[in-house]
Amino acid sequence: MHFLGISGSLRRQSFNTAALRACAKLLPAGGTMELADISGIPLYNEEIREQGLPASVQKLREQITAADALVIATPEYNYSMPGVLKNAIDWASRPPSQPFDGKPIALLGATPGGLGTSRSQYHLRQVFVYLNGQILNKPEVMISTAPTKFDAQGELHDTATADHLRTMLTALADWSSLLTAGASARAGEKT
Ligand code: FNR
Repeated sequence: MHFLGISGSLRRQSFNTAALRACAKLLPAGGTMELADISGIPLYNEEIREQGLPASVQKLREQITAADALVIATPEYNYSMPGVLKNAIDWASRPPSQPFDGKPIALLGATPGGLGTSRSQYHLRQVFVYLNGQILNKPEVMISTAPTKFDAQGELHDTATADHLRTMLTALADWSSLLTAGASARAGEKT
């Protein structure tokens, strides 16, 4: 099973990107994970889109399509998701064949604060209702007081958080398998 991680932070020292790097080490057996780079995606402009999707957007769309499941790690900015993440989602979501449709997705977030990006994640869930992303309901992963859980190199050293991430990744893999089995069964009924 192949996972694509998307971080909503462009910071080199980002806790959210660090959480995704931790996820890559906690995958179910046989799993692989790559991290998307959204730093080169321009601000959305319909006139740019009419001239063709920028290469950075095309690449993200291809990575999303190729992945069995997405793991999106979002900071919380002013009680919502950062503009860079919403901008990347907006670009990737444009027709034809928007790649979030039916895609299994797990959300997580990390913050130095105390509420674990919950408000940001619930806004992101709402966005994926429209895009028909298949959001994993539980476990929710809301990493509070992040500086106490990651070291200066961005390594996760909190075992409870690592266990929680491992559980979430296993649940996401199961969720993806369930959705794929359902789609295969429906295809079989038609033949
Ligand atoms: C923040 N931060 C923040 N934290 C939080 O828990 N709730 C919030 O509403 C906000 N609002 C907010 C707005 C803006 C503009 C910034 C720049 C920051 C703090 C934020 O959680 C912190 O900067 C994290 O470290 C960002 O995530 P990364 O970059 O470490 O992944």
